[in-house]
Amino acid sequence: MYKLYPYFTNDGSVGLYSEKDNDIYHSTYGALTEAYEKFILPSHLEKFFDKNSKIKILDICFGIGYNSKSFANFFIQNIYNATRYTDNILREQYNDKIDTNNALVKNATHFNHDERNFKIYIKAIDVDEILAFLSPFVICNKKRLPKNYKLPFENEKISRMLNKPPKYKIEFSDGINLLFYKKITENHPEIFENSEISRLLNDKKYRMFFDPHICRLFKFDKNKRDVCTPLKRLNAFLHNIYYRNLSKRYKTDLKASISKDFIFDLKIRDARRELLGDKNRYDFVFLDAFTPAKCPALWSLEFFKLLYEHLDENGMILTYSNSAAVRNAFIHAGFFVGKIFNPTLNKFTGTVAVKNKTLIEHELSGYDLGLLKTKAGIFYRDENLNGLNDEILKAHKTEVEKSDLLSSSKYIKTYKSDK
Ligand SMILES: C[S@@+](CC[C@H](N)C(=O)[O-])C[C@H]1O[C@@H](n2cnc3c(N)ncnc32)[C@H](O)[C@@H]1O
Repeated sequence: MYKLYPYFTNDGSVGLYSEKDNDIYHSTYGALTEAYEKFILPSHLEKFFDKNSKIKILDICFGIGYNSKSFANFFIQNIYNATRYTDNILREQYNDKIDTNNALVKNATHFNHDERNFKIYIKAIDVDEILAFLSPFVICNKKRLPKNYKLPFENEKISRMLNKPPKYKIEFSDGINLLFYKKITENHPEIFENSEISRLLNDKKYRMFFDPHICRLFKFDKNKRDVCTPLKRLNAFLHNIYYRNLSKRYKTDLKASISKDFIFDLKIRDARRELLGDKNRYDFVFLDAFTPAKCPALWSLEFFKLLYEHLDENGMILTYSNSAAVRNAFIHAGFFVGKIFNPTLNKFTGTVAVKNKTLIEHELSGYDLGLLKTKAGIFYRDENLNGLNDEILKAHKTEVEKSDLLSSSKYIKTYKSDK
């Protein structure tokens, strides 16, 4: 039986706790906020869409989908709607003056991107089918928590960290869950036969964590697929009425986003296996694996070399990790490496790896570069891209123990005393 430990993070999105690792999947600070700050804002998507109307994103470790959902939300709110909006203003202003060559509209393209057909392709990978299938149901913007809300499971560490609101507030479109629901149910109809998904969605203790509209649609859709009895036909009829009357907000977002031009390709597989058989090159790669100490397989030199083959010349890999071993592995795999700066928190919150050096906004400092040459910079190895995490960790530990390099603590001491 699948064990799920959900809770509300400080921005009203759902976070998960892993009993196996005694660790959390998402920060209590705000699962959705974190996805924005770590992956979406540093991608500078407005700049990207100024020049491009096609985008390919690789979301490694999709989990319950905050990174892909945040991208879709950002796109609909800031790119798609904004361009429709500017286009409407333009038409109102110039309507009667547009000549047969559409010259005026052409001249105004510096602030009007419309008439472009956006093509969005997201490949999302995760080994955990249950989490990925639950992703469209999970609430991202609970406005008010139920009275007397407390964690649905015992955990001191998490409860102490809750209720410190994040500094950055995100408006999340309700239609995003519907978009991912549509895409996942179209491409993975096996979700309807998955008894664990039905069990979790029907379990009363989890109900507050799931979006009631999407749960209702799922029930209707599931019924519709079963053998046709008069009751089922009635359900199908009610489904169509319900679908038509989904709240206005849902429908607006749905109209803006569900189209054949939004391809969401979810793969339930080990990311290494999936990428070995993939021919795509991506504009953005979101790498959101568990920390290197838990999941070294997705931070190894060989995995990064594989990512190198899948990154566009002007593409960017983003990750939350600041680890010297991770940065060093990126450099050895052929990338230029920089830091992610979060102006809201006024600190560096991650790493970017690129092929085009000019895309780096914040270079590694002298201190960071020095750290790469210490034991802390020894990276993980997974020569055949099929090692088990424990094996990779063990080999890494041996390499660190045998190494003559300076320890990071000595390096830090020397560095500080030299200053
Ligand atoms: C920190 S969580 C990702 C959170 C996620 N981005 C979200 O928005 O919910 C790490 C995820 O990595 C997945 N994972 C672990 N090893 C993997 C592998 N070898 N290939 C693909 N996914 C993996 C886990 O199932 C887990 O969902």
